[in-house]
Amino acid sequence: MDYRVLITEPIVESVIQRLEEHFSVDVGRRGDFNDEEQLIKAIPNYDALLPMLSNPITKNVIDAGSRLKVIANHAVGYNNIDLEAAKENDVKVANTPDVLTQSSADLAMALLLAVARKIFKAEQYLKEGKFEGWEPLGFLGMELNGNTLGIVGMGRIGTALARRAKAFGMNIIYHNRSRVEEELEKELDATYIESVRKLAERADVLSLHCPLTDETHHLINRDILAALPSHAIVINTARGPVIDEEALAEALHSGTLGGAGLDVFENEPEVHPKILNAPNCVITPHIASATHHSRKSIGMLAANAIIGVLQGKSESDIPNLIQL
Ligand code: DGY
Repeated sequence: MDYRVLITEPIVESVIQRLEEHFSVDVGRRGDFNDEEQLIKAIPNYDALLPMLSNPITKNVIDAGSRLKVIANHAVGYNNIDLEAAKENDVKVANTPDVLTQSSADLAMALLLAVARKIFKAEQYLKEGKFEGWEPLGFLGMELNGNTLGIVGMGRIGTALARRAKAFGMNIIYHNRSRVEEELEKELDATYIESVRKLAERADVLSLHCPLTDETHHLINRDILAALPSHAIVINTARGPVIDEEALAEALHSGTLGGAGLDVFENEPEVHPKILNAPNCVITPHIASATHHSRKSIGMLAANAIIGVLQGKSESDIPNLIQL
C-alpha cells in the first residue's frame, strides 16, 4: 500500500528524503497548519503526520484523520497533541527525546549568562556610541559562582543545565515530581526541595524545565515570583504558559525581580507588550533546539517512528513512542 505522509512545514531536507524513500510525502508551507481548520481539511488524506509544536493537533483533527495511524511530533514537548483523542482513535504518538537535550541546555545557559551579565544592554550602549571608557559602576550584574540555581523539572534538560551551572560554580537545588537517583544528586551536589515555593525562596536563579500540563499551567504565578529574592533571574526554555506572563512582566517592571531570559511565551508567536519592553529581559523566538545537529536528529527520530509504525514494527522497537 502507498502510504501518505504530511510534514506540516519544511524541515531538514535529508529527513524529507528519508521518508520519501518509503512513502508519498507532502510538505506544507510554513505556518499553513498553525490553524485547526487547515489540518482538519488535509488530515483525511494521510496515514502519518509529522507536525510542528505550533500545530494544534486537537481532538477534531485526530477524529478527522480517518486513515491516520501515527503522529510523530517534531519536538520533545507534545502539549500541542490531544493524547486522549489519539488513544481513542488508536493513533500512535511519538516525540523526540534526548536529541535536543544539549542544545536546549546550552540555550538556557546562554540566556542566564546574557541576563546575569547584562550582555545585550551593554552591547546596545556600546553600539549607540555611549562608551566613554572603563566604568567602575557600569553594568554590574550577578556572578554565577556561589549563587544558587533552582531547577523546576530535573529531567534530561534540567540535568544537563545543572551540569553546566555546576561547572560555573553554582549551587544546585531542584524540585521535581519525584526525587532523582541518589547517584545523580551526589554528582550534582543537588538538594531536593519539596515545593516550588520553597525552591523560589532559596534560588538566585530559577530555571524551568517541566512539561506544560494542567498542573504546570501558571505554576510560576504572582505568589512564586514574590517568593523569589528581588535580584533573582527567571529562565524559561520550557513552555510559555508555565509562567503567568502578566505577573512576570509586572515583577520585571516594578523591580521586584532582577531579570528574565525567555525562549517561550504564553501566546506564541505573540509576545506580551510589557515583556517586550521589560528591563533586563532577554528574549529569543523559541530557538532552544535550533542547532543543525539537533534539528536533523529531531527530524530523523520523528521520521523513524513513522517508518516503524507504518511498516508494522512492534512498539518496543520504536523507543520514542509515547505510552498512551
Ligand atoms: C521542544 O522540542 O519541545 C522544544 O520546545 C524545542 O525548543
